[in-house]
Parts: sequence; C-alpha cells; structure tokens
Amino acid sequence: MSYFIPGSTPPVEAPPVAATVEPPAVDTPRSVGAVLAQTQVQAVLQELDDQLVGLAPVKARVRDIAALLVIDKLRAGLGLASQAPSLHMCFSGNPGTGKTTVAYRMAQILHRLGYVRKGHLVAVTRDDLVGQYIGHTAPKTREVLKKAMGGVLFIDEAYYLYRPENERDYGQEAIEILLQVMENHRDDLVVILAGYGDRMNTFFQSNPGMRSRIAHHLEFPDYAADELMQISRSMLAEQNHQFSDEAAQAFERYLALRLAQPHFANARSVRNALDRARLRQASRLFSQPDREWTAEELTTLQAADILGSRLFQQDGAPHA
Ligand SMILES: Nc1ncnc2c1ncn2[C@@H]1O[C@H](COP(=O)(O)OP(=O)(O)OP(=O)(O)O)[C@@H](O)[C@H]1O
Ligand SMILES: [Mg+2]
Repeated sequence: MSYFIPGSTPPVEAPPVAATVEPPAVDTPRSVGAVLAQTQVQAVLQELDDQLVGLAPVKARVRDIAALLVIDKLRAGLGLASQAPSLHMCFSGNPGTGKTTVAYRMAQILHRLGYVRKGHLVAVTRDDLVGQYIGHTAPKTREVLKKAMGGVLFIDEAYYLYRPENERDYGQEAIEILLQVMENHRDDLVVILAGYGDRMNTFFQSNPGMRSRIAHHLEFPDYAADELMQISRSMLAEQNHQFSDEAAQAFERYLALRLAQPHFANARSVRNALDRARLRQASRLFSQPDREWTAEELTTLQAADILGSRLFQQDGAPHA
C-alpha cells in the first residue's frame, strides 16, 4: 500500500546520480558566499549562536548540515543531479536542553535553502498520531502529515509510538505510515524525532527501519551550572528584568540545590523558577501600595524574591 498525502506532489522515481551536466543558469550562485547571501542562511546560524547559550556540539552539527546543503545547492546549480538528501534527524537529550528551540531554527534553515516549501514546524506526540480504536490511527497520522508537508514534523518522545508489551498497539501503524512518507516525500517533509537519548537508542534497536531513515543524530548535553546562570540572565533580559548582585548569588545557590533534586529540566526549570521569582517580586512591590517605584526597582529581582523559594526552607517540597 502506498500512502499519498493530499497537498503534496506524488512520489517520483529519484533521478540517477550525476547523470547529466547542464550549463548553469545566469543567476545561479557559484560560491558558498553567493548561496549564503542569496538564502540568508547565515543570519539564522548567527541567531542560533547569539541567542542560545552553550550547545557547542549542537551548533557545530547544525553548521555541518547547513554546509552540506549549501554545497549540494552548488552542485545542483552546475547541473550535477543528485538525489534529494535525506534530512530526517534525531535530537536526543534531557528535557529543557533546547531541542524544540533548535528544531524551529532548523526548519528555517531548510526553508531558506529551499529543502522544504513552507518551513513551518508541526510539533506532535504519540496522542496526535495514534488513535484509540481500530481504524482511527491511519487517518489521524495522515492528517498530521498533511499539516506538516512542506515543513518539519517534530515528534516529541517518539519512542512512545512503539509499545512492545502490547502486540496490537496502534503505534506500529503510525510508524509504518511515517516510514513510507519519510521515504516517498523526503523532498518536502523533514521528520525530527526527539527524546531522551537512552530511550531513543532502545527505540531504534527495535525499529531498524526508522533508524536507517535518520541521517543526522544530534545530542543535546545537559547545561553546566554556569551556562544555566547565563541562560537565566538572558531570559530575564528578554523580559526587561535583571538580578541584583545579591539576587544573582542567591540564584546560583538556588540552582545548586535544584540540580540535586529529581526532575531537573535544565533551561525549562530555570524558566519556571524565574517566573515564580517574578511573581514574588510583584507581590513584594504590591504590598506597598503608596510607594512610588523607579524603573530600576520595577525591573530588578532582589535576593528575597529568590530566597522565598520553598527550596530554601528546611522541610521544603522537592520541586519549588
Ligand atoms: N541554550 C539556551 N539558551 C537560552 N535559552 C534556552 C537554551 N536552551 C533552552 N532554552 C530555553 O529553555 C526553554 C526550554 O527549551 P526547549 O523547549 O527548546 O527544550 P526541549 O529540549 O525541547 O525541552 P522539553 O524536552 O522539555 O520539550 C525554552 O524557553 C528555551 O527558549
Ligand atoms: Mg521540547
């Protein structure tokens, strides 16, 4: 059976590699610089560098992939025909390590280089693909694929699609449809599977077909304490906020305690902690209704706003 996705071009036989050499069109870029200038890809790479703290190995891999595609474009410009490159990826790493954020950037890069028509990202989990009853899964999966065509389909915690303990699990049906579309529509849809590294590995061991279609594996490391501190400063700056010196020291202590707690979710935990600190700051200012506040006072988190966390109380609850 072949799954045709409405709104997409029907699958065609891939042309043979390097069959003919045609003269390039006049405005065809001939240098890496020309492709970068024409596609504005450099700007996305720069944003990725500037806006995301750390992640050196991930950034390097994204650059490698961009380089591969730019060179592929140069080859195509000279009429050196080649098969559409396989661009499906796996982003593995713990929660809050930036996988979703980088996936959005990747979608932009692929779009600017012309590898997907629209460049949008559709983020889903098992529940969006798999139905509860017989006959529900295929239409659900196809609907999601239709939405994602021309862009990136990001499947978070992809391993939940496969439940070996349940022989009749409908997840298998979704996997089979995905496998076919990943092959037949790879010139217009890029699939990124994301999740914890060890669970992704187990998933690939049981699903060699899926493994063989994933061309790029990117590993997202946990952030070190100083990176988390830098991330928190940049998150605050985005919201026109800042730490006082004492608040910054308190937040360093907060992070040291929080890192040792269960369910630490890297940058996501930082974002949540800062949200709670801003609530405490607001309550603090609110409690003095007659006082006129300066811009600095309105934008500065004080040590008390951090130290109010339950984490600093001896019998504090684990996730505060
Ligand atoms: N390196 C970073 N620099 C700055 N902000 C970051 C960085 N990494 C993540 N963030 C921020 O942390 C939050 C969580 O990131 P993101 O959602 O991309 O992580 P994730 O790996 O997809 O997490 P999850 O597994 O929880 O979905 C986002 O608000 C994001 O902007
Ligand atoms: Mg995410």
